[in-house]
Amino acid sequence: MLQVSELSASYGAIRAVRNISLHVPEGSLVAVLGANGAGKSTLVQSIAGVHREKTGSVRLGGRAIQKLPLHRITRMGLALVPEGRHVVTSLTVAENLGLSAFSGRSRPDLLDRVYSLFPRLAERRAQEAGLMSGGEQQMLAMGRALMTDPKVLLLDEPSMGLAPSIIDIIYTAIAALHQEGQSILLIEQDATRALQVADHAHLLQRGEVHMSGSPAELANSEDIRKAYLG
Ligand SMILES: Nc1ncnc2c1ncn2[C@@H]1O[C@H](COP(=O)(O)OP(=O)(O)OP(=O)(O)O)[C@@H](O)[C@H]1O
Ligand SMILES: [Mg+2]
Repeated sequence: MLQVSELSASYGAIRAVRNISLHVPEGSLVAVLGANGAGKSTLVQSIAGVHREKTGSVRLGGRAIQKLPLHRITRMGLALVPEGRHVVTSLTVAENLGLSAFSGRSRPDLLDRVYSLFPRLAERRAQEAGLMSGGEQQMLAMGRALMTDPKVLLLDEPSMGLAPSIIDIIYTAIAALHQEGQSILLIEQDATRALQVADHAHLLQRGEVHMSGSPAELANSEDIRKAYLG
């Protein structure tokens, strides 16, 4: 469904992502793990068309998207939930979800899907997003992406800065989406959480894929155990 080949990305002279190839088969959940500064956000931003200084190819459902502008990529079915959420704080929950109408992919029935996945959003639909907790804002950011009925959902560190009980809710939703057949590329620093839900995982170090394999293979590797699992 999503095929990334030899993707490199820079900020001027800094090469943050080097020669990365990865594949998200239809219906699968692929995780990319890595420490602070490993290049995780640069990787997903390059895939989603937010970061433009890059080489290599990105294919969505077989079609090359690496040269397309962001709005066309969204329209083709790729949705990014960025690190730090970025909901529109002055708008209500319902209004934030309504913004996805601009994607050209939004449908009324998708709102029911979002509200059943996150009942908390349904309860707070009239509340200003800026007054919501970090966890609720994460739910809202995911809901907004799901309102575009994405072929592939890109999640950049959905657990960041959240309490364990809230991370449980977020990961229950991620597992439910995976169960429904949603293709997902999950970026995480929290290897324990990500490896519990992933079908396949990659470890990113200094902008490069250092290791790839099944969650069990990565969980058993010395490198991961030392650096991420304690
Ligand atoms: N706007 C920028 N200008 C210059 N360098 C940048 C910029 N954004 C990121 N970098 C550098 O690119 C590298 C990768 O950063 P990136 O944000 O992709 O890492 P990350 O794995 O997402 O880290 P984190 O876990 O902290 O979110 C780092 O060395 C970072 O300093
Ligand atoms: Mg990041």
